[in-house]
Amino acid sequence: MKDSFVLQRRALIALTVVLFALVTGCKQSPSPAADAGAAGSGATAAAEPIKIGEFASLTGSEAAFGQSSHKGTQLAFDEINKAGGLLGRQVMHLVEDNRSTAGESVTIVKKFISREKVVGILGEVASGRSLEAAPVCQAAHVPMVSPSSTNPKVTEIGDYIFRVCFIDPFQGKLLADFAAKTLKARKLAILSDVSAPYSVGLAQFVREPFTAAGGEVVVEQKYTSKDKDFRAQLTAIKAANPDAILVPGYYTEAGLVVAQARQLGITIPIFGGDGWEAPQLIEIAGAALSNTFYSTHYSPEAKSAKVESFVKAFQAKFGGEIPDAMAALGYDSAMVLADAIRRAGSTDGAKVRDALAATKDYPCVTGKTTLDAQRNASKAAVIITVENGKFKYLQTIEP
Ligand code: PHE
Repeated sequence: MKDSFVLQRRALIALTVVLFALVTGCKQSPSPAADAGAAGSGATAAAEPIKIGEFASLTGSEAAFGQSSHKGTQLAFDEINKAGGLLGRQVMHLVEDNRSTAGESVTIVKKFISREKVVGILGEVASGRSLEAAPVCQAAHVPMVSPSSTNPKVTEIGDYIFRVCFIDPFQGKLLADFAAKTLKARKLAILSDVSAPYSVGLAQFVREPFTAAGGEVVVEQKYTSKDKDFRAQLTAIKAANPDAILVPGYYTEAGLVVAQARQLGITIPIFGGDGWEAPQLIEIAGAALSNTFYSTHYSPEAKSAKVESFVKAFQAKFGGEIPDAMAALGYDSAMVLADAIRRAGSTDGAKVRDALAATKDYPCVTGKTTLDAQRNASKAAVIITVENGKFKYLQTIEP
């Protein structure tokens, strides 16, 4: 009896260790290297692989972001390796989960750099976590490419930090215009997440152009990520009688805010930015989402050959799943970094950095990408609404 108990306990511990390793561990992409070797150029089969590290929110409150973005990077490296890799070498794609929590990204990136000797880093979706990791990459002169962090401060960290998406001053302005012109709002309420630099920044980048154009912010309320009850803030907002509510946060809280607002009889438009983009938004708020809107980076419905072939390849690899904006930007971030390594003809940090800085008209899924002197991309945005429990493309806004 006792022995079998010990055995069971051991088995349980072993299982826990395996599960823990699976969830938090340093996974390597399921060896596309093997099949790519046969299909590839045949050059230097024994050459060391080129290591690229990705830190991502694979679990936790923004898991939808990290998982989606990671699917995009996986597809990109599969395609790259099948076509012979980079500089005649295969790419080894390392990924580690920061569980959507603060503090983890620094540890992961340090490990990638000092232990794994990665030549480039991809990540993150959320600006706050990109802001944590970027100083480490900058100090080590390892180029970092964020797929979708839109807060301007991210690339201001230094000349090794790039992104392939638009930034929030652009997103804020288009949301301010949308509120004034399409929603015909004059009086705006803002409910932002003080714990997320993205949310604080986007609130400011909407407030400024909205008030400059003659609108008024009649009430501002705040919350902290992981809050679940927003009724006190929503009651204060209702009392101020605004025409629309801006919620520049992430989908978990935005979904709850929308659901609770409708319960309190608040029927006015509620809108946000790219942080809303996740199928979970609909799972959380369902029918309450009618009369809500958000801006994001791409629509899978776009009529472009590049988008169509990406959607097809993504669906083939991931059981028919339709790629969202993070998947597209994840894919683009990997492709832009790979293109820079190819043009640099080297994995040297400074040379890859220079090649990234020279990125011009690269054909990304999310549009032609040129990196400017601030290492940012300027791209069109789309506005999405929710109708009958489904996301629906509304309009495209050019930069
Ligand atoms: N732009 C958000 C940020 O910077 C993250 C995000 C990107 C969310 C794309 C959804 C889609 O934090």
